[in-house]
Amino acid sequence: MHGTATTANIAASARTPALRVQDLGVRYGALIALEGVSWEVFPGELLGIIGPNGAGKSSCYDAVTAMVRRSGRVELKSRDVTGLPPYGLAALGMKRAFQQNAFFDDLSVLDNFVAVLGEHAHAGLVSSILNPVGAARRRDDARLSAAGQLARFGIPASYHALSPREIPYGVQRMLSIALAYGRGADVLLLDEPAAGLGGEDMDALVSLLGELKREGVAVVVIEHHMELIMAVADRICVLDLGRQLAYGSPAEIQGDPRVREAYLGKVQ
Ligand SMILES: Nc1ncnc2c1ncn2[C@@H]1O[C@H](COP(=O)(O)OP(=O)(O)OP(=O)(O)O)[C@@H](O)[C@H]1O
Ligand SMILES: [Mg+2]
Repeated sequence: MHGTATTANIAASARTPALRVQDLGVRYGALIALEGVSWEVFPGELLGIIGPNGAGKSSCYDAVTAMVRRSGRVELKSRDVTGLPPYGLAALGMKRAFQQNAFFDDLSVLDNFVAVLGEHAHAGLVSSILNPVGAARRRDDARLSAAGQLARFGIPASYHALSPREIPYGVQRMLSIALAYGRGADVLLLDEPAAGLGGEDMDALVSLLGELKREGVAVVVIEHHMELIMAVADRICVLDLGRQLAYGSPAEIQGDPRVREAYLGKVQ
């Protein structure tokens, strides 16, 4: 299921889910937004989460990343992280991009990414005074490395000096992924990355997702875009009214009569 492992190390890590959630539940007052949701994602795999509007998909991320009060258990690389706050989870390698783009509009595209990397802030006042040339070189190095990484996320150099609001919408979505990924991630949670994307942008997204998988990132993607999710997902979790309606391979999900009735049937 996870390919042929070439070393014992890879085999061991392939058997260990990068992220496992068990029996997740979220309530907003009297509303049960999520109940009894359990899934796992392995390094180098992509888990799709689908379901109609209001099904609880984003709430599931809020629950996983400890942004809301929730019940259940969250394991990151075999470690029980249920009690950790969002920043603790990010420090352990779990990163999230949000459904809505969120940028520092007063900074350029490049400086948005440099800010996330944190290099700029740590150039340090004392070292800047004692060794201004060295500090400037470190800043230049940070910007060069940031520019290289942005290009990898499909954001060409011609956009780097612009405000995020001045670049095309499709590139903004890629910037959201780049900012979430930052210095790197073991688990990357994306919330509708393909929303509003056209054909060419969609191709760029598919190839980026493939590249992240090949690098061993465990990717989770919430999507309404069926064609995309069926093409890129190794496993799919279907949510409906906060419950886990089905969980399986794309073929199993497409063939599941409950899914067809509750969800796929409506959009075909
Ligand atoms: N902060 C909140 N307070 C109260 N109710 C909320 C809150 N956030 C979400 N909800 C409700 O919880 C349910 C699940 O919402 P959620 O945003 O998780 O759905 P979703 O599957 O992400 O939908 P969409 O496809 O529209 O993004 C909905 O009924 C929503 O109105
Ligand atoms: Mg949502």
